[in-house]
Amino acid sequence: MGLWERMPGRRALASPPARVARRSSHFYLSRPSDTEGAVPGSRTPEGGIQMADLQHITLSWDADLAIVTVDRQEKLNALNSEVFAELAEAFQSLRHDDQVRGVIVTGAGEKAFVAGADIGELAKMNAITGVQVSRTGQEVFRTIESFPKPVLAAVGGYALGGGCELALACHMRMASENARFGLPEVGLGIIPGYGGTVRLARLVGLGRAVEMALTGEMVDAQAALAMGLVTRVVPREELMDRAKEQVRKVTRNGPLAVRMVLEAIYRGMDVPIQDGTTFESSLFGLLASTEDVKEGMTAFLEKRKPVFRGR
Ligand code: COA
Repeated sequence: MGLWERMPGRRALASPPARVARRSSHFYLSRPSDTEGAVPGSRTPEGGIQMADLQHITLSWDADLAIVTVDRQEKLNALNSEVFAELAEAFQSLRHDDQVRGVIVTGAGEKAFVAGADIGELAKMNAITGVQVSRTGQEVFRTIESFPKPVLAAVGGYALGGGCELALACHMRMASENARFGLPEVGLGIIPGYGGTVRLARLVGLGRAVEMALTGEMVDAQAALAMGLVTRVVPREELMDRAKEQVRKVTRNGPLAVRMVLEAIYRGMDVPIQDGTTFESSLFGLLASTEDVKEGMTAFLEKRKPVFRGR
């Protein structure tokens, strides 16, 4: 049984309206131009569609970028099993959407990116369901980390526990000045369970990761910047524009090259250097046979901008 079938929240998305256009098998990801008048939902400031069928996340588009917003503001966007189900399904669909070249993950409202796993749900777990909760979250975040297009976390407030781990699973992280990061799980008697114990240490180093996970204390945006947990801190009101700008610096490059850089770097983290560099050579060679490489180099020599087609 797949992740999606196991999710309690899937029923909310299981019956697509009959008239919705399908470019993929996922009804709620069709773009406005494909679905004029067909999709229930309202237009967002970015010009995309906010789908009625999604309960706790919204999806919108800005040209070739998809924006995934966790939206449970009454609980500071805490991740319950329905949010996880919707995130999994959204990323699965965006993966196959050729018009989407990059993704921004953010949280709704001014206060939080995501204030962690839903403590109300966690309070009900036992030893067996606890393992399942952790593995399900890990699986969803692994889907994000292994996403073949760039994913940036735009953190505009609290990124605590599972929220910090969600940001860690993204390829890039940008914070607003009011952002706060932390792994407060020990204060609840648990540990980070969505990959945070592994990813934080790899990103910021053992000493800082151990201190954050042991004390449970929050760090502010500047401290997060100093330790490399985020790479940019911007004013709150500029966060989304700067996030889009940052992802577009990636999406203007060859999509196959971007995908393979991600594969090489993330695979390279898990293997001895010799194996990583051998894998790198294979990808390098593979790219040499693509139309994008010819286009990229020809465009340079002809002093024009390349037009990459991902082939
Ligand atoms: N799970 C479930 N509900 C959460 C939540 C979480 N992780 N984080 C916040 N909420 C809820 C609160 O219970 C409150 O709900 P209520 O209005 O029904 O009581 C609402 O969101 C607003 O939070 P509140 O605590 O009133 O806001 P605050 O500004 O006083 O504090 C935080 C903000 C983030 C410091 C505080 O909410 C907090 O510590 N949250 C838990 C963080 C955490 O431990 N995360 C890791 C979980 S493993």
